Amino acid sequence: MSGAVLVTDARKTFVASRRLFGGGTPVHAVDGVSFSIAPGRVLGIAGESGSGKSTLANLLVGLELPSGGEIAIGGRPLGRKPNADFRRSVQMVFQDPFGSINPRFTVGRTVEEPLLIHGLGSEAERHARAIAALEEAELRPGAAFMERFPHELSGGQRQRVAIARAIVLRPRLLVADEPVSMLDVSVRAGILRLLNRLVHESEMAMVFITHDLSIVASVCDELAVMYRGRFVEHGPVRAVLQKPRHPYTRALIAAVPVPDPTVPPTPLPAKLMSGGAPVAGGCRFAPRCGSAIAACETVDPVLEEAQPGHRVACIRHREIAQ
Ligand SMILES: Nc1ncnc2c1ncn2[C@@H]1O[C@H](COP(=O)(O)OP(=O)(O)OP(=O)(O)O)[C@@H](O)[C@H]1O
Ligand code: SF4
Ligand SMILES: [Mg+2]
Repeated sequence: MSGAVLVTDARKTFVASRRLFGGGTPVHAVDGVSFSIAPGRVLGIAGESGSGKSTLANLLVGLELPSGGEIAIGGRPLGRKPNADFRRSVQMVFQDPFGSINPRFTVGRTVEEPLLIHGLGSEAERHARAIAALEEAELRPGAAFMERFPHELSGGQRQRVAIARAIVLRPRLLVADEPVSMLDVSVRAGILRLLNRLVHESEMAMVFITHDLSIVASVCDELAVMYRGRFVEHGPVRAVLQKPRHPYTRALIAAVPVPDPTVPPTPLPAKLMSGGAPVAGGCRFAPRCGSAIAACETVDPVLEEAQPGHRVACIRHREIAQ
């Protein structure tokens, strides 16, 4: 599995402050997630707000330490704490290109900084590698960008600088958390094409996090749908989008706006919007599920293979797929 990403039963529990909320209630933000990604492949992760996508991203890059489970990137285990080797092997692109880049640093210093932190190369080598990374991020000629400051760049160009900074270390895994959602619609497609090209032309894997299912097919090879800290469906992107098997995935896909502005999107069913607390030991989606039966309150479904490589956590997925 060298070069690949291997995540086994990853967990992250936050305990809300007693002083603030009076109870010390645990939040199982990531609650037993397992997957692997081969080099040169993209795993998309979708799900509504609060489903645990960013917490999983933070675990993958070592910004948060897991409460349980194992994470290994390129054969390097995260262990109890990320070491320099682990940190080098995984890099992140954030949602906000304005907040993720230091406004006082030139583009050159921004992109060279990871090399400096890891003590890699001479000054001249770092300079050359930064220019090469900018060109890979399609900021050409790269040398012309080195002395510029973030305020002189557009939002799309800033995100390209953030991508150049992320790839300059040649990571095994790139984690992109909503990388285009704050960008102007006109530049989104270009950034998505860039990420897609960088991954598929290299040995790097990518986790691409989004709440926007309309863009996953253009970037991802696989898609996982997250609900309350768990994957409820995971498979080849086209299989999940064209033949979704989990009721939650089906509702999310039905609600995606179609490109034709005269056709209104299907609204989410009222029950799905309202939600409610799941019964302990039952399916966590049951309070919102239009397909729930009595057994759903007593069985907590685990992911099982519905088709080769396509996993679903629903006791009724075979009937639902009919
Ligand atoms: N540092 C923290 N302390 C306490 N709870 C947290 C912390 N970070 C996240 N959470 C909680 O964990 C859950 C998952 O949050 P997370 O940010 O991972 O969701 P998300 O899927 O990225 O949502 P969004 O789409 O809004 O970005 C939420 O209930 C959130 O309130
Ligand atoms: S197990 Fe039951 S409640 Fe859960 S998603 Fe399937 S049908 Fe719905
Ligand atoms: Mg998030």
